[in-house]
Amino acid sequence: MTAFYVTTPIYYVNGEPHAGHAYTNIAADVLARYHRLKGYDVFFLTGVDEHGANVHKSAENEGLAPQAYCDKMAPTFTKLWQRLNISHDIFLRTTSEMHKRGVRKFLTALEASGDVYKDTYEGHYCRPCEQFFPEKELTEEKICPVHQLPLEWVEEENYFFRLSKYQERLSSHIRENPMFIHLEPRRNELLSFLEAGLEDVSISRSSVSWGIPLPFDPRHIAYVWIEALSNYMTALGYETESERYQTFWPADVHMMAKDITRFHALIWPAMLMALNLPLPKHIVAHGWLTKDGEALSKTRGIFIDMDTDIATYGVDAFRYYLLREFSFGNDGDYRLSRLNARYHADLANDLGNLLNRVLGLVGKHFKRVPEPTTPGEFDDEVKAMHRETLQKLDALMETFAFDTALETIWGFVRRINRYIQQTEVWTLNTPEKRPRMGTILYNGLEALRIISVLIAPFMPDTADKIRQQLNLPVGANGFDTIATWGGLPKNLAIARGEPIFPRIDKKTRQKKASPPPSPKAAPKQKAEKSPSNLISFSDFQKLDLRAAKVIAAEPVEGADRLLKLQVDLGAEKRQVVAGIAAHYTPETLIGKQVIVVTNLEPVTLRGVESQGMLLAASGDSVVLATLETEVPLGTQIR
Ligand code: ME8
Ligand code: MG
Repeated sequence: MTAFYVTTPIYYVNGEPHAGHAYTNIAADVLARYHRLKGYDVFFLTGVDEHGANVHKSAENEGLAPQAYCDKMAPTFTKLWQRLNISHDIFLRTTSEMHKRGVRKFLTALEASGDVYKDTYEGHYCRPCEQFFPEKELTEEKICPVHQLPLEWVEEENYFFRLSKYQERLSSHIRENPMFIHLEPRRNELLSFLEAGLEDVSISRSSVSWGIPLPFDPRHIAYVWIEALSNYMTALGYETESERYQTFWPADVHMMAKDITRFHALIWPAMLMALNLPLPKHIVAHGWLTKDGEALSKTRGIFIDMDTDIATYGVDAFRYYLLREFSFGNDGDYRLSRLNARYHADLANDLGNLLNRVLGLVGKHFKRVPEPTTPGEFDDEVKAMHRETLQKLDALMETFAFDTALETIWGFVRRINRYIQQTEVWTLNTPEKRPRMGTILYNGLEALRIISVLIAPFMPDTADKIRQQLNLPVGANGFDTIATWGGLPKNLAIARGEPIFPRIDKKTRQKKASPPPSPKAAPKQKAEKSPSNLISFSDFQKLDLRAAKVIAAEPVEGADRLLKLQVDLGAEKRQVVAGIAAHYTPETLIGKQVIVVTNLEPVTLRGVESQGMLLAASGDSVVLATLETEVPLGTQIR
């Protein structure tokens, strides 16, 4: 079996994990799960970075010994990973003995390479970054470019690693391996940084006490970054060169955000070069997550309320939103309104309704998986799209284009919805058309089986839920099971269940919300009030507008302005009374796609109940609003 080793950064324990950390771990988890389903032997590492002055200081602030503080903080990470369904194989703590022993071996080897020397260091240091910043990168004010805080002037005797010696080799490695640093902008940044010339880096601190002493000079403590980078090997059992280490090193993917690529793409490979060890294959940096346009900040109370959003929408919707919404590698702005919109449009409507609809029809007409005996129009197109989707997905996953990968999968989901629509399968319940009905529904079920595998890396619980309703084994869902069309066993009883993505109205959202955060962490108040003739976006969002098709129309007795219409909303049919009789005859309306306001209170007009309203231009003449091209019934309009 081919090995695949994916890592996340090990996060500082001096604060609880937030959505930025979640984003990295979800992306890494998707890669791990995808490769497992592709048949790779996967090892997935995440963990925490517990040493260094910064953590020491946080412990002091809380009146705890550093180890006790770390012991308290580490579980806040493992708890979140459990909640997010992160399937890591190891949670590494840098205070573990295995790591410490590995670090000592690593440092001993580094010293033996001849590229370590002792010197005095002076420079501008950022404590939260645990990093010196070269003079040339700073402005007059000497402010940390990451934290915008004043830097400290630090002078001390340090051991140094001869990073400068590796400038040429690093540069040619980066140039010759275009996928070594992903994405392109990060790669270019690093190349121009390299061109400006590399300075040697210090690998120890004499002013710090919380860390791992250098094996060759215990008066010095290993610089936390040097120690942390080596975790990618110590976690595998580098110390004993265990079988696991031999199987999985070098790493396939180091996943992170763009803030720490320099450490990973320059210092880390250079040290590995000094040790004559193979280099990681891909350094993958994603963008920076913001909330409603602002940087996440503990002190300013700007945070993404993951607890509430996951409680409301479910963990899979949260995972889906993060990976679908933002172009991977670029910055992304988290907005609850977008999570809500994607939940309803992509998940509840496109996927949830498809499952519901196909299983509903099978349940009503066949009970069991029907035989695909009667091929017909559109079948080949759907099958060709299955093959194309698989091919595209491979290429996209190899280039870490998670957003496009999901878009591609959803292209298939939507195509199946359209197939159901185009074939008007629900009308085929006559003795001579029934075999064709069974075939179309078989194809619908088979597509859902395929979709359950395609989405499994991204939404593992949802994949299982779909498989349960199809009465398929959960877990036994490798990509090999969907390589060819037609793997769904015939005559299997189906087990239609609850909607997998129930609609969430405002009331449920509020009910599920946790109590407001403590005042210290309260989100900052919006100062301005909207002028009274404007409605807020959330007011607008209360409207539930959906695409529907008119399937029947007739006059309302005794009311010459009104027509009584039956409209199909995909998941349901409704009766709507519209005042359009003077402008439309009933026959011309049948088959028209219209826009329905679906969450109006029902009213009775001339004794006829109306469960919604059609949108129309209502000037001198009344003109129905329609959609430029047809979309699946029930699609939300906003
Ligand atoms: O740097 N958007 O730890 P760290 C996206 N211990 N990702 C974010 C983010 C945001 N707003 N905020 C944090 C360290 N991250 C070192 C790493 S590895 C050998 C040592 C994520 O706790 C992202 O993955 O500061 C980023 O690279 C990482 O957290 C930094 O975590
Ligand atoms: Mg950081």
